[in-house]
Formats: sequence, C-alpha cells, structure tokens
Amino acid sequence: MRYVLIGIAMGAFMVVALAGFRGDISRKPPLEVIPDMDRQPKLRPMEPNAFFKNGLSSQPLVEGTVARSEPLVTASGEKVYPFQTNHAVNKGYKIVDGATNFVSIPIPVTMSFVERGRERFGISCVPCHGAQGDGNGIVGKFGFSGIRDLHGETALKLSDGALFKIISEGQKSSPTEAGMMGYASSIDIADRWAIVAYVRALQLSRLGDAKKDNVPARFLIPEKAPESEKGGAE
Ligand code: HEC
Repeated sequence: MRYVLIGIAMGAFMVVALAGFRGDISRKPPLEVIPDMDRQPKLRPMEPNAFFKNGLSSQPLVEGTVARSEPLVTASGEKVYPFQTNHAVNKGYKIVDGATNFVSIPIPVTMSFVERGRERFGISCVPCHGAQGDGNGIVGKFGFSGIRDLHGETALKLSDGALFKIISEGQKSSPTEAGMMGYASSIDIADRWAIVAYVRALQLSRLGDAKKDNVPARFLIPEKAPESEKGGAE
C-alpha cells in the first residue's frame, strides 16, 4: 500500500513538473493533445491576399447588392436599424428607472402607411379579430376562444406602443386560454407600426368623434356634379 501511495505522489509530482500548474504563464506553445482551432487557414478582414487580382481579402460588395435591412426614419429624422433591438422604435417602449414608457407611432403617419397597415391587418389579424376588429374572425368559429374585441374598453385604452408590444410579443392573460402569439418574426417593424396606425383608424371609426367634419377635406370623396343635384349635401 505504501508503495502505491508513493507511486501516486511521484506520478502527480511528475505531471506538475512537466505540465506546470493551471494558470502558469509560459512563453512556450501550449500542449495540444487534440489540435485546437487556434490556427486556421482563414483571412482576417484587412489582410493582404494574393488570391484575388485586387490583392484584398475582403472583397467589395457585388454591384446591385440589396441591403438586408433598411433603417426606419422617425418623424424626428433619426435612423433606427432593426439590429438596435432595444430601441423604443423597435420595441414600442423604453424602460426608464424600471418603469415601462410606451411611445406613440414614431414614423410619420401618411395615408399610404395606413393603407399598408390595412393590408397587413387583413393578412395577419383578420382571421382572429375579424375585418372590423370586433373579435369575431373565422378562427373563433372553429373553437379558438378568448379573442378580444379591438373596440373593447381595454383595447381602446392601449397606447400605440402597448399595441405594438402586443403585436410583437403577444399577450396571454388567462392561464386556460391559448392567448395571442407574437408576430415579430413574421411582420417587420415598419409593418407592425402600420398595423397600429390602422387599428387606431378602425377604433376611431366607431368613436363619437368619427364624424364627417373631422375628416380632412382631402380624404373626402367629392360629391358628383353638385349643381345639377337639387338639394346638395345633407
Ligand atoms: C390566432 C388568433 C389571433 C391573431 C391572428 C391575432 N390575435 Fe390579437 N388576440 C388574440 C387573443 C386570443 C387575444 C387575447 C389574449 C389574452 O390577453 O389572453 C388577443 C388580444 C389582442 C389585443 C389585446 C386586446 C385587449 O383588449 O387586451 C390586441 C390589441 C390584439 N390582439 C391585436 C392584434 C393584432 C393587431 C393582430 C394582427 C397582427 C392580432 N391581434 C392577431 C388572438 C389573435
């Protein structure tokens, strides 16, 4: 037994003597039992490279390359890229001192923007919430329960940013219902804001102030030949 212990002690001593302690600094290359990936036949971005005629390792973009993402330009002129994942424009809110601050639609709302929202709403939301947003879409008829009326009290109280957050991240308020899933992966950021704008227009259409007088003149359909009609407008 004694010899075994001495053997183990000597073995351990030899390993330490040869390999050193963990964390020891040495100028010699490390022992590599299995070759690591420290040395690879790769090119660093600015490294000269004889393979290409222009001698560069990073080649310029091919003419006509299409960017994967365009920045959104906010009403204040700020450019926000999709990779700025924590930006309020991309999330609908910013956290300040632990409090959630929802933002309003950050991009200029134009007629074509709302039209785009209407189209996207038709694709992604109508199956459940219905074309008018009152929660009676076709999916509900097949047993999907808990779909909300977008003209309901809670939906009317949502800020633009809160609406954007629900579209992006989904919402589940009951443990027994399926809830709504987030659509961030299938609707891009600008389109989600466009849907917010359209939902606002839908909601406005049922509120007390949705009167003809409140519609800007340029959106009114001109009445046909007013002179020839006897009475004119009501
Ligand atoms: C698969 C069905 C389904 C689709 C598609 C769907 N929703 Fe929902 N939505 C729900 C359900 C269910 C709820 C209730 C979630 C909860 O709180 O449990 C809900 C809740 C909401 C709410 C919250 C309303 C409130 O009163 O709290 C909003 C706003 C909303 N949806 C908007 C949208 C928009 C905009 C789209 C399209 C991008 C959309 N939904 C697509 C099923 C859906």
